Amino acid sequence: MVEQTAHIVSNQRDTDLYFRLVVRAPQIAPLVQPGQFAHVRILPLKDALLRRPFSIFQVAGDTLSILYKTVGQGTEMLSRMRPGEQLNLIGPLGHGFTVPQPGGENPLLVAGGYGMAALYLLAQRSPQKGIAFVGGRRRVDILCEEEFRALGWEVRVATEDGSQGEKGLVTQPLLAELQRPAPRRKLFACGPTPMLKAVAKLAAQFSLPAELSLDEHMGCGMGVCLTCVVPVKAGDGWEYQRSCTEGPVFEARQIAWEAMP
Ligand SMILES: Cc1cc2nc3c(=O)[nH]c(=O)nc-3n(C[C@H](O)[C@H](O)[C@H](O)COP(=O)(O)OP(=O)(O)OC[C@H]3O[C@@H](n4cnc5c(N)ncnc54)[C@H](O)[C@@H]3O)c2cc1C
Ligand code: FES
Repeated sequence: MVEQTAHIVSNQRDTDLYFRLVVRAPQIAPLVQPGQFAHVRILPLKDALLRRPFSIFQVAGDTLSILYKTVGQGTEMLSRMRPGEQLNLIGPLGHGFTVPQPGGENPLLVAGGYGMAALYLLAQRSPQKGIAFVGGRRRVDILCEEEFRALGWEVRVATEDGSQGEKGLVTQPLLAELQRPAPRRKLFACGPTPMLKAVAKLAAQFSLPAELSLDEHMGCGMGVCLTCVVPVKAGDGWEYQRSCTEGPVFEARQIAWEAMP
């Protein structure tokens, strides 16, 4: 884990509220594992001390990129920053996804919105290509479809308003796929908590392993403040674990959903 000043290479609108940020971060980029995140200090912000966590989407040489949605003052400010300006990054942070071994599990990815960002490096580094199920409210929430196809993945899209792909939730095409017999499947998912909960339920129903990247609010990002704790099964009960260090990726069967707020 490294802290470094990173220069913005590009920062462009992707669709609607989503932007792609590329920064030069030569000390962090080579270390990144799929599912890890960077904790970003947006220097022009008044509350710049408070960092924002973002999944590391892609790495190329000494650059890394982030795919982000503008939701509040931090991401709004970030969207106005220009090439050459500086950010401060700590990363790579967190416990990411387990990349399948050659000849091992056949991955099925499930993403909602910017969840695709957390799954891209896994798709790129997995020796087995599989199916990526991508969901969102509307067409503009469907990100990087072509980039996943370019990696050799099949992509199945579902939107709640039916503006792209199947109409409904992303778990519908996933369920249809799980009902077909196939060997050694494993689920990997990132997206809103209700989606992750539904994926965990399907994993249990079909007795499949599943790794889920949880999206908890974070403070320090380094295991100190306990803002990000999630209930994880332990013995006959459960205990809190930190999403920023023990996670953000957890095995679905570990999570004590009944104790989640
Ligand atoms: C491990 C991890 C990876 C993430 N990866 C990405 C990513 O790849 N792309 C991306 O766009 N965002 C990602 N996020 C969410 C991102 O950190 C928040 O959207 C960002 O911090 C909001 O900052 P803000 O100042 O713009 O919004 P704020 O002004 O802080 O908040 C605006 C609104 O966003 C909500 N919000 C803040 N943080 C989160 C969060 N963690 N999850 C859900 N809602 C939140 C607030 O409750 C509020 O309603 C990730 C979060 C985590 C924990
Ligand atoms: S964000 Fe501080 S302990 Fe996880």
